[in-house]
Amino acid sequence: MTDGKERDRINREINNDKNITIGDFMLIRVCMGSSCHLKGSYKIVQKIEQLRKKYPEIQLYGSLCFGRCSDGICVEIDGKLYTHVDDKNIEKIIEEAKT
Ligand code: FES
Repeated sequence: MTDGKERDRINREINNDKNITIGDFMLIRVCMGSSCHLKGSYKIVQKIEQLRKKYPEIQLYGSLCFGRCSDGICVEIDGKLYTHVDDKNIEKIIEEAKT
């Protein structure tokens, strides 16, 4: 979960780099814990990196274990945790998160 200070810092960073207004970004954290790593979280990172061309509002970060290892791969988008994520369903999840 991202606290208000972190969100404000990211907002400032985004607005220095791009012409995106405050509140328009999407904060994605991919679990880099050992279980999710073994299940292929790096493939999701690569896929999200590709999707940033289509969705420039994405801000991508790694995360420590979310504590839901058996449901991994876990990805948090704007504070909401998604489980059983893979490189094939991540775009659909991002689309869902945008709405
Ligand atoms: S390693 Fe990803 S939720 Fe635990």
